[in-house]
Amino acid sequence: MRILSGIQPSGSLHLGNYFGMMKRMVDYQENNELFCFLVNYHALTSVFDASFLRRQTYEAACDFLALGLDPDKSVFWVQADVPEVTELTWLLANVTGMGLLERSHSFKDKIAKDIPASHGLFSYPVLMAADILLYGAEKVPVGKDQKQHLEIARDIALRFNSTYGETFVVPEPDIEDDLATVPGLDGQKMSKSYGNAIEIFIDEKTLKKKVMSMKTDSTPVEEPKPVQGNPLYDIYALFLDDKGKAALKERFLTPGLRYGDIKKEIFGVIWEYFEPFRKERARLAADRQFVVDTMKMGAGKARAVATVYLEKARHNVGLDYWNK
Ligand code: ADP
Ligand code: TRP
Repeated sequence: MRILSGIQPSGSLHLGNYFGMMKRMVDYQENNELFCFLVNYHALTSVFDASFLRRQTYEAACDFLALGLDPDKSVFWVQADVPEVTELTWLLANVTGMGLLERSHSFKDKIAKDIPASHGLFSYPVLMAADILLYGAEKVPVGKDQKQHLEIARDIALRFNSTYGETFVVPEPDIEDDLATVPGLDGQKMSKSYGNAIEIFIDEKTLKKKVMSMKTDSTPVEEPKPVQGNPLYDIYALFLDDKGKAALKERFLTPGLRYGDIKKEIFGVIWEYFEPFRKERARLAADRQFVVDTMKMGAGKARAVATVYLEKARHNVGLDYWNK
């Protein structure tokens, strides 16, 4: 099956990105045709500092490679290295109803967070649909927050196909329902842009400081602690199997548990979990040429697929005036 997903290099990648998307992508590459990319055109909707964007794109490439994304097995590239996607965006824009975009929660959330309400931000979902349709993706693993974007992409594919004849694969979302949205330090959705993230590759001291600063409720030590909606429980549980989760729940429900102790344990599990990847991450960070060459090679593989779909779409809408 052809599986595709992307992530914005608009900040350092964090635990929400890892469990919501990255880990699942790495796991999928064993038995599927995996397409994974860093969506720097999308990042332009919220990042206006060129050197920051360059740096974050490079860092995100290092993160993925260190975490096990295999550039020989999969197609791994940077979105803007295949600029054909912007042409497809235009073809799709003309079968995208205004109402579809006006209903976008993500747009409303972002402008509420002071991201400028630009045309680019408004048409973000059309570029995302182009990302998916350009590569004939069948399945798109994302976190819950991307559900509506996937619905928009499906709508656009269906509308294009019914207007111009069968052109695109209609993608299926792949959202793990039992994976709650990973909470950030303040208990809100962990996000690069909310200043509440626990980044995957930060140094030990900063990680400890961040985890110890996690927001907690004011339940007294001698009372049972809530599990539902408790960010400490949710973050810890990401690293546990079912048995471990049941045991953790039991500990929360038993009076006497101290949040400070739990935070120290959480710091320990996070630090240990990413330990095996840290050496490779440092090696990649010091070998820019290798990382850049790897991304360029990925773009070549991606482009080979993209041009086939784009040519078909150009033909179906009638841009090839040289034909009768
Ligand atoms: P951010 O909000 O940090 O900018 P993105 O919007 O770039 O993250 O999301 C990249 C991927 O990571 C998407 O598939 C998204 O659903 C997933 N993701 C982001 N934040 C979380 C979270 N807090 N919990 C679960 N998945 C998340
Ligand atoms: N909008 C996605 C996010 O913020 C990123 C993205 C862009 C994407 N293009 C995509 C995800 C294509 C999946 C498929 O997380």
